[in-house]
Amino acid sequence: MTRILHRKIGAPLPVAVEGEGIVIRDSTGKAYIDASGGAAVSCLGHRHPDVLAAMRAQMDRLEYAHTAFFTTEAAETLADDLVAHAPEGIGHVYLVSGGSEAIETALKLARQYFVERGEPQRTRFVARRQSYHGNTLGALAVGGNFRRREPFAPILFESHHIEPCYPYRHRRSDESEEAYGERAAEALEQKLIALGPDTVIAFVAETVVGATAGAVTPAPGYFGAIRDICDRHGVLLILDEVMSGMGRTGTLHACEQEGIAPDLMTVAKGLGAGYQPIGAVLFSKTIYEAFAAGSRLFQHGHTYIGHPIPCAAALAVQTVIRRDRLLDNVVRQGARLRAGLEERFGNHPHVGEVRGRGLFQAIELVADRASKKPFPPRAGLAAGIQRAAMARGLCIYPGSGTADGQSGDHVLIAPPFIIEDAHVGEIVTKLTGALDRTLREAEAAA
Ligand SMILES: Cc1ncc(COP(=O)(O)O)c(C=O)c1O
Repeated sequence: MTRILHRKIGAPLPVAVEGEGIVIRDSTGKAYIDASGGAAVSCLGHRHPDVLAAMRAQMDRLEYAHTAFFTTEAAETLADDLVAHAPEGIGHVYLVSGGSEAIETALKLARQYFVERGEPQRTRFVARRQSYHGNTLGALAVGGNFRRREPFAPILFESHHIEPCYPYRHRRSDESEEAYGERAAEALEQKLIALGPDTVIAFVAETVVGATAGAVTPAPGYFGAIRDICDRHGVLLILDEVMSGMGRTGTLHACEQEGIAPDLMTVAKGLGAGYQPIGAVLFSKTIYEAFAAGSRLFQHGHTYIGHPIPCAAALAVQTVIRRDRLLDNVVRQGARLRAGLEERFGNHPHVGEVRGRGLFQAIELVADRASKKPFPPRAGLAAGIQRAAMARGLCIYPGSGTADGQSGDHVLIAPPFIIEDAHVGEIVTKLTGALDRTLREAEAAA
């Protein structure tokens, strides 16, 4: 019996023993194409020699030094690198160990910024339903993933949610994409007015929604309007690019394609590509200057912030992505993957939408295409597709509660940036087999 409290009790897992490129092998020798990079993490695939060499070199020199006593070359160089390639206005970085920690840090930075500026009455966060910002209590409080929040809801701090920008489900048939984007953004303005804009710290949103609703891209103009609303009310904009950032959508930051820059931005998964646990908050010069002119002390910190080995790994990952022009491959293979998915599933009676950007693609499953009615949650469709895919040697990332937090299913495909033409065909073929088999079983059980 395992001594680990795994994600699900009584559901034995294969034992992963080695990886190479886009493949993971288990202890029986079975190979799996890692077509979701875990949860959109492994953007360089497995066992990349340059990243391993950078980690070894750092380990040989210094494995750890506490940030209350020292800074390190690895952390300073990574911070410089992140700022050099950051959206406009971003001037500083806080280095943490993952996505949830990055969000907690961003929330606290944003709150203390207003304390430093003499606006302590700003105490509220607005975020969106059908979003995910992490599993720690602060991140869950602002998150809008109904199932993950539910058991803990009574102990979360109060936060305020608006509808997501989710064109497939929320755009009216008589509305253009742009008109819908404007209407969806308008919900923020109304919420700020209802709360009293000068009581609000920040609006928090995933630039492209990941695990909760499945690669939902914003309507054109939506984030431009959001940026404008935040500016008019003096509210900070926190973009969560833990999943969609660091190249996943074809540009280093997903917000580049929206033509806006946030005040704070969280990144994690693709930053270290799974070679080490690392996340970061990138934030504006204005925020930094308020701290510098005020208390000069951010009331925060963890033992492992700025750890030199994750910093060295992340720097190597980012250097390889640039050196090998991998974002060009994300765009090229993303288009191939999308075309392959559209070809197989575009007219599928149980696929409502194929969507996404770059190598961040998803399909949303429906019981009925015309009405967009989801399958009942008890069918466990997304999890079933994942199991069937694993049996065929394919890892994809399933999600349920897609439509409204309770019902709906999707699967995410987010392969490493190094994939080649042949891999794309193989992924689509294996996924088709898994999906058709699971749907046949679901129909038989209904
Ligand atoms: C958008 C987003 N934010 C935050 C997180 C939390 O990151 P972590 O699991 O590294 O704590 C995730 C994880 O999936 C995420 O997708």
